[in-house]
Amino acid sequence: MTAYPRLAPFQPRVFSGMQPTGNLHLGNYLGALQRWVAMQETHDCIYCIVDLHAITQGPEVWGGPEGLRKATREVTAAYLAAGLDPKRAIIFNQSQVSGHAELGWVFNCIARLGWLNRMTQFKEKAGKDRENASIGLYDYPVLMAADILVYRATHVPVGEDQKQHLELARDIAQKFNFDFSDRIRDLGLESGEYLPLPEPLIAGPAPRVMSLRDGTKKMSKSDPSDYSRINLTDDADTIALKVRKAKTDPEPLPSEAAGLKGRPEAENLVTIYAALSGDAPEAVLKEYGGGQFSRFKQALGDVAVNHLAPIANEMRRYLADPATIDAILFDGADRARVIAEPVYRDVKEIMGFIHR
Ligand code: TYM
Repeated sequence: MTAYPRLAPFQPRVFSGMQPTGNLHLGNYLGALQRWVAMQETHDCIYCIVDLHAITQGPEVWGGPEGLRKATREVTAAYLAAGLDPKRAIIFNQSQVSGHAELGWVFNCIARLGWLNRMTQFKEKAGKDRENASIGLYDYPVLMAADILVYRATHVPVGEDQKQHLELARDIAQKFNFDFSDRIRDLGLESGEYLPLPEPLIAGPAPRVMSLRDGTKKMSKSDPSDYSRINLTDDADTIALKVRKAKTDPEPLPSEAAGLKGRPEAENLVTIYAALSGDAPEAVLKEYGGGQFSRFKQALGDVAVNHLAPIANEMRRYLADPATIDAILFDGADRARVIAEPVYRDVKEIMGFIHR
């Protein structure tokens, strides 16, 4: 019997993903996608379309087979249109790389019920009818941990709503390392730590974009009102209309950031303007503070259209050629598998599964 090769230490690597359900919106863009584009210049990045996560709520929610295919291509097109480069970053859909689901099962046996019972997103999504929620919806954060750790990824750029899920991923990695530390050392890693504790990167000017109808709720795909969000596919007129109709309060815009306290809708619109224009919120308030919301909204509509219209156009161009999109996903999955398979093999070796 030949000896197993020594386990290699982990390297810096970025992983993140989005669900192909419904339209991507400004929150997805500012909280995640825009930042992913910047990171591909400086890091090894893997960006996934998490189609296995999309099916946790029943086909009437995720759209059935036609809907899933369409949404997967749309999210891929949005990634490309926003500036992700498939030559630099790995772009693929999750279900093509079996290591996600396989490591997900191993992690099911490591994560504790008590940890999952604390997950607030499950409580929100399951609502009152918890008995009828799928096991997958409950188990969702465990698969998410596997997504990240099957690549031993160290950094995960996400919006603020994913923070708790990332904490769970760290707990899982930590328990795995703890339970098998002797074995990991025997296999050549002196630290006894095979899995990194992935670090959430929740940063940028808008880690939590709020609904345009209620500044205390996050902008979300599942909000029944389309006026609550700006979709990446909205045309210029729709964007301008949604901004005009966005909820505000009766006071004029303040001239300093401190004046936004307790005014969630005003704060959200200023944050969005700042994130899209690249200006600091203070500079935005200096320009528009003291004036009526109508003037600011007009400017915000223009900034949003200028920034988002080219992305929507590019998306349409990509979507006209689904074969090219699929080829990008196939190639990305091939490259992802090359990284994931040895990691899963190491996990098998660490835990004692007989394998080739
Ligand atoms: P998803 O598809 O709900 O959202 C994709 C990304 O968009 C961010 N986001 C927001 N950021 C700011 N303001 C908002 N209103 C807003 N809404 C959404 C999310 O934080 C996320 O970064 N569970 C994940 C997908 C996932 C994943 C992973 C992410 C699966 N496996 C592994 C990272 C690593 C989700 O449902 O994101």
